Amino acid sequence: MTENKLILTLFGATGDLASRKLYPAIYRLYKNGHLSKHFALIGTGRTKWSHEDMRHTVRQSVAKEVEDATHLEEFLTHMYYLSHDVNDKAHYQNLKAFQAELDQQYQTDGNRIFYISLSPTLFPTITLHLKTEGLITENGYNRLIIEKPFGHDTESAQELQRKLNQAFDEDQIFRIDHYLGKEMVQAIRNIRFDNRLFSDIWNNKGIDHFQISLLEEVGVEDRGEYYDHSGATRDMIQNHALQLLALLAMDAPKDNSAEAIQEEKIKILASLHLPETTEEVKANFVRGQYGPAADFKGYRQEENVASDSNTETYLAAKVEVDLPQWKGVPFFVRTGKRVNSKSTLIDVQFKPTIEGIAGNHLRIEIAPRTGYRLLVNQKVFGYSHDTYSIPFEYYYTDEQLAQTPQDYERLIFECILGDKSHFAHYLEVEHAWKYIDNLFSHWQKIEPEFPNYEAGSKGPKAADDLLAKHHIEWHQ
Ligand code: BG6
Repeated sequence: MTENKLILTLFGATGDLASRKLYPAIYRLYKNGHLSKHFALIGTGRTKWSHEDMRHTVRQSVAKEVEDATHLEEFLTHMYYLSHDVNDKAHYQNLKAFQAELDQQYQTDGNRIFYISLSPTLFPTITLHLKTEGLITENGYNRLIIEKPFGHDTESAQELQRKLNQAFDEDQIFRIDHYLGKEMVQAIRNIRFDNRLFSDIWNNKGIDHFQISLLEEVGVEDRGEYYDHSGATRDMIQNHALQLLALLAMDAPKDNSAEAIQEEKIKILASLHLPETTEEVKANFVRGQYGPAADFKGYRQEENVASDSNTETYLAAKVEVDLPQWKGVPFFVRTGKRVNSKSTLIDVQFKPTIEGIAGNHLRIEIAPRTGYRLLVNQKVFGYSHDTYSIPFEYYYTDEQLAQTPQDYERLIFECILGDKSHFAHYLEVEHAWKYIDNLFSHWQKIEPEFPNYEAGSKGPKAADDLLAKHHIEWHQ
């Protein structure tokens, strides 16, 4: 049993993310003994709820996780609610007094986590009030967890960081990228650096190319308003895909500290090759938008999406890293909504030893299965002396997966421990935005021909052509 002492204040307690992800994550932490008697959660929101209303919502949202009803009721006694207008100073004073009361009751030693799960436009309003109204304690730790997006481009990210820094230092800010909480994403470092088999050839001597695929069957669901201003590139590439790329390309950190890991990732993101001409962008980046198909609406017909929208719901890209060890090694990245499969995959294609023999292939599978597979060459069984590839693979069972922490659970726990290894440093975010801004500056000059793939298909044909130019195909 770990005696983690803290008050977690959640802004956005009545929201969808809280019910879908955060309450189950926090309940699992409690169930597994990572949170116990020295813990309280204060949910806040504009809605006028009582503590009982809050507990009712939490009870429903964690229902699937419950094994012991008495233990659940005990957990619920740690849940509180205050209705809160983020612009009203008096409400911060109420919150402060309530935190002080609960601090006494639960002996939380002044430790505070402020979790903002609201529109990013409200981040600075809240953090500035936390500072000016004296909610940041002197005696314990104070940490801020915020959801993406961190800005819309480089300039807005810089502005946001400047404002957050008026209340919280960089080492207190935990930017959630839920991909970094996934089991197989966290495993990338172990696979790369703890196997001699890979560590010495994980560069342009041994690797031909990478493929990072973040594909989804779902459309924009009920998020049309957000998504139409975001698009696939900002929604999935700026954060998740470039984080995966950084983990795949970075040098071994000098130790396992968060600082060392972030330092190596920053180097990669600062070295992404920025296409210089619009022609270069046209040749290496394929944007797509889904059109209607028998069973599905087209993107432009989705709710809260402009009927002439040119927002991309798909992107396939050839990303390059301008560092000597990665010269000539493309990182092919693709993401898309409403394609024919949900698959989150990293494929590493090694170079062949000699012409005519397949290079080894490592697949790190994040979803739908969790595990990896390595294709190795061996002799065809029997009289033949030919070579063929056979798989060595390991996939986790449903039972194992039920035991392993889920992404939000893991990241909230790591924040409680003060471990930032799986959170992005501000500079990672800024470099990623610079890369994306450069793309958009070129795209502004090219009118896309949307829609260009059918909902439920594998995506635009041009995405296949992009790889065909390199005499390869997307791994399925
Ligand atoms: C989110 C995006 O960050 O990631 C969503 O905003 C997307 O549009 C989701 O659906 C995908 O996450 P996962 O974990 O289902 O791959």
